[in-house]
Amino acid sequence: MKKILITGVSGFVGYRFYELLSEKNDFELYGFFNKTKVNLKNTFSIDIKKRSEVIKFLKEISPDIIVHTAALTSTTYCEKNPEEAWLTNTLATKYFTEYAKNNSSYLLFISTDLVFDGEKGWYVEEDKTNPINVYGETKKEAEDLIFQISPRFSILRSSLIYGKSWCENRGADEKIINYLVEGKKIKLFMDEFRTFLFIEDLVKIMAYFCEKEIEGLFHVGGPEKMSRYEFGKRVAEKFNLDLSLIEPASIKGYNSKPKRVPDGSLSTKKLKSVIPFSFTKLDDALSTYERN
Ligand SMILES: NC(=O)c1ccc[n+]([C@@H]2O[C@H](COP(=O)([O-])OP(=O)(O)OC[C@H]3O[C@@H](n4cnc5c(N)ncnc54)[C@H](OP(=O)(O)O)[C@@H]3O)[C@@H](O)[C@H]2O)c1
Repeated sequence: MKKILITGVSGFVGYRFYELLSEKNDFELYGFFNKTKVNLKNTFSIDIKKRSEVIKFLKEISPDIIVHTAALTSTTYCEKNPEEAWLTNTLATKYFTEYAKNNSSYLLFISTDLVFDGEKGWYVEEDKTNPINVYGETKKEAEDLIFQISPRFSILRSSLIYGKSWCENRGADEKIINYLVEGKKIKLFMDEFRTFLFIEDLVKIMAYFCEKEIEGLFHVGGPEKMSRYEFGKRVAEKFNLDLSLIEPASIKGYNSKPKRVPDGSLSTKKLKSVIPFSFTKLDDALSTYERN
């Protein structure tokens, strides 16, 4: 049975991916987390910024497949802590990539739509990257390292992800729901567009990639492009939450740091040519789970 190591196993994507694979029982599973201990078998706390720790654990586990999801994912935190963001998101990726190369492991890396500046939208894989914030820059540099070093990899560039997370605060929908449930107002941009992606679709695709060891760069986004405001409204409607707490806003004239990507929508034409399933629409996805 092949061994898979999942980094970021305490995160939104890593945890759900581990769960899905443990239901399938096709792989021997291992995971790395950092500060958030999770109750999953064969998972270890490490700091991926420390090369010696990474290499020590990798040698002990000797994975056939490395699924690298760990990252500093808050764009605001990355903007304020650029060096830590670079060490975590870029340099640590190099450690995993070099190990994968030297040990003939297959590497699956999760990247982001924020490698683009958002001026065009419906990005295809051939489009030029041009990150406009620190988080996007660190992920783009990580991608570049993988292209340079790794002979056997895939990079899945993901849109903004929603759905149930184990800690109930990671999904793009959960963040909005938590605000509204507490009776707090939330501003959502009407002119910031994403192809919101259902977590269940993403982990299913990741599992398929690991089974087939598919190689290359692919965009993974949901089937509908919508603004953050529309997304929030549809989530609130679905769960009968107070719509009046959602304030429509515009990114024009909004002097934000980190800079906002206006249209990060991703085209999945290339991905659809290699996967045998379709993407879930927002309303269908929201109907598959309950909220307290
Ligand atoms: N969520 C999205 O909407 C989205 C969209 C596009 C792309 N992505 C990409 O998808 C991947 C997964 O995102 P996510 O939403 O699952 O992230 P997340 O929930 O923020 O989880 C991040 C994970 O990285 C781990 N981590 C951070 N620093 C670490 C360090 N120094 N050493 C070891 N582990 C460390 C965290 O561990 P602890 O919790 O234990 O500290 C956690 O397990 C990321 O690469 C992200 O760039 C996410």
